[in-house]
Amino acid sequence: MDHTRDNPIIRFGAFWWGLGTFLIFALLLAVIWFFNRKDPETLEDVAAKARYETKAKVEKAQTESLPKEAIHAAIPAVAAKLASSKPAAVEKPDQVVAGSPTAAKLAAAPAVDTSAVDKAAPADGPIDPAVMELGKTQFVTCGACHGMNGEGGPIAPPLAKSEWVTGPISNLIRIQLRGLQGPITVAGKEYNFPAGMAALSYQTDEQIAAVLTYVRNSFGNKASAVTADQVKALRSEVGKPPLTVQDLAKP
Ligand code: HEC
Repeated sequence: MDHTRDNPIIRFGAFWWGLGTFLIFALLLAVIWFFNRKDPETLEDVAAKARYETKAKVEKAQTESLPKEAIHAAIPAVAAKLASSKPAAVEKPDQVVAGSPTAAKLAAAPAVDTSAVDKAAPADGPIDPAVMELGKTQFVTCGACHGMNGEGGPIAPPLAKSEWVTGPISNLIRIQLRGLQGPITVAGKEYNFPAGMAALSYQTDEQIAAVLTYVRNSFGNKASAVTADQVKALRSEVGKPPLTVQDLAKP
């Protein structure tokens, strides 16, 4: 048997030897660090030094000019002002809280006039490949439900060969800005998805125009392009409750 393992004196000695070796290395590192200290060399270092000095000066000046007592004295005045101010109703559609009086007001607003959008002369000429490319990237969101080839699936009806997709442009824009609920017939087949489709109005006018142009010209569909101006013309729809088929123009 190895006698050193059980000898407390030897174990105690080994402990101090270990600690000593460790300290020698620490001391060595400290010495190396001490003799290697350099002034900043790179431009970044020099710039950073100046920045830290300025920051320190600004902070010092701030603490001197704004003592704690001044802050404490200001609190009641600010609190009184906040307590007496009334919150203003937000009218901006995409900031309206669902179920709020403003949302109810918007829901009761007269139906939008979609004729200008639908009667606009279709953009002629071939579809811009750059728009199709942008539309394809935006379509990833739609594809999650409608299938990457617009084939439909367990949670959404098909976009391929859908009369809604190639029909009036205002329908497509409004579906994306407000969402859609309730039973719907697509290509002769009736669908009823309890969850419906939620609004996807966060995309920009250009992105929505591109994704709708993309679905109108993919999966065997062929129809005119959707322009950002057409989307813009219907932006006031955002924030209103989801549509049902009855709200849409006949395809
Ligand atoms: C969360 C799943 C989901 C996403 C994401 C989604 N949809 Fe839908 N979509 C649905 C459902 C469900 C319906 C059927 C709504 C109903 O109940 O009437 C629908 C219906 C439609 C319709 C009308 C019916 C048809 O099939 O032609 C169009 C057009 C449409 N969606 C386009 C889009 C576009 C464009 C996007 C992407 C910008 C998109 N959807 C994203 C679920 C989704």
